[in-house]
Amino acid sequence: MDKYVINGGKPLNGSIEISGMKNAAVAVIFASLLVEDTIVLENIPSILDVAVSLNILKDMGASVKMLRKNTVEINAKNARCGTAPSDMVRRMRASYYIIGAELGRFKKSAIAYPGGCDFGTRPIDQHIKAFESLGAKVELDGNLIIESVAENGLHGANVFFDMVTVGATMNLMIAAVMAEGVTVIDNAAREPHIVDLANFLNTCGADVRGAGTDTIKIKGVEKLHGCTYAIIPDMIEAGTYMYAAIATGGRLTVTNVIPKHLESITAKIEEMGVIVEEGDDSVTVSRGETFKRLKIKTTPYPGFPTDMQPQMCVLMCLADGKSTLVEGVWDNRFRYIDQLRRMGAQITVNDDTAYVEGIHELHPAKVRAVDLRAGAAMVIAGLAAKGITEIEDIQYIERGYDDIVGKLSSIGAEIKKVSVPDEIVFGKD
Ligand code: EPU
Repeated sequence: MDKYVINGGKPLNGSIEISGMKNAAVAVIFASLLVEDTIVLENIPSILDVAVSLNILKDMGASVKMLRKNTVEINAKNARCGTAPSDMVRRMRASYYIIGAELGRFKKSAIAYPGGCDFGTRPIDQHIKAFESLGAKVELDGNLIIESVAENGLHGANVFFDMVTVGATMNLMIAAVMAEGVTVIDNAAREPHIVDLANFLNTCGADVRGAGTDTIKIKGVEKLHGCTYAIIPDMIEAGTYMYAAIATGGRLTVTNVIPKHLESITAKIEEMGVIVEEGDDSVTVSRGETFKRLKIKTTPYPGFPTDMQPQMCVLMCLADGKSTLVEGVWDNRFRYIDQLRRMGAQITVNDDTAYVEGIHELHPAKVRAVDLRAGAAMVIAGLAAKGITEIEDIQYIERGYDDIVGKLSSIGAEIKKVSVPDEIVFGKD
């Protein structure tokens, strides 16, 4: 078991280059199963979820080669349907994209029930509804296995999602690009990774229009071809480092970003008094004269992202006054608050709302990452609190942050990854 040990209280200053987006990369990697030619993917982040996704493809018979750091070549010509290894599928949520890709290419699919971070119920009824609209028959064996088959092929259909869902929108896009006829998705999610997936599929010869709006139109094609494609930068990684710098009173520039994607993340800290300077592909943040309380609700893009909610909660702890944080996407994404309380946070939770008392300082403690973004929040809290904070269960953090220790160290953080029960002494190496 590894843990992070942070000697906090030091302002983070400098610049960090942002990696490719986790939630785009995993979708594009699994969508590569649709294609029987060679695909080269650039700007792939070095994170655990990507490693697991690539291993799943390999186990299915695809050829996967790292050409250089962050560039991978995939050829799924020899991939076999229904062979995704259950233990790996259960390790991550995004493995549900295998169903869309297998249905698209093989017109059938069999896969273990996808796992992922635990923040309440994570149903896939909208994915199933979408596949059934295209003509697949889907059967669930308890919560263990999903089998689907489209005996007469997949046919375009109109699908109206009951709620805005990123995963089901992307999964339907993946399945529908090789369905016969036109599919129209209404109430589609509009996240930048939806647009990225559409751009990737179109580069392979698909006909997807309207991604980024709430209506997406997909004209099925018979075959897709290979391509070279670069994944967009990760707005959540960028937001996490910006918030870490603000929490420590530093000044940080994130580079290789698309500032437009960061608008809700920066707008809310500007409301608190943070100074935000936008470049063409960079954003710089630093504390202003005030650091005020905030009211915020997480909503689908372009609203404030649920994946920045725990990190924002740490800023609220350090601000003036009482803030209100409403979780509008997941039904149980406040489990990390118990960990923050160990660091002195004064937060009460009532159903979907956290009331956060601004106490200006957190104190160091032994805490754990309860999921990926919760873990990122613990890192920010540890960087802000003067003294030694230890964070366990960091495997969650490494699912989604590319070289977090190296990147934070490069801007002045004292953070080390150690194997429990190794001892650690700062300033001695
Ligand atoms: N929902 C349903 N039925 C469905 C699908 C979703 O009821 O069939 C509900 C969910 O329960 C939730 C809401 O719809 O209340 C939104 O879920 P969505 O489908 O958008 O989430 P997801 O696709 O499973 C992705 C990201 C999450 C991120 C959410 C919301 C991936 C692999 N995961 O999950 O990312 O929180 O969208 O933006 O893309 C993370 O990166 O830390 C992470 C958890």
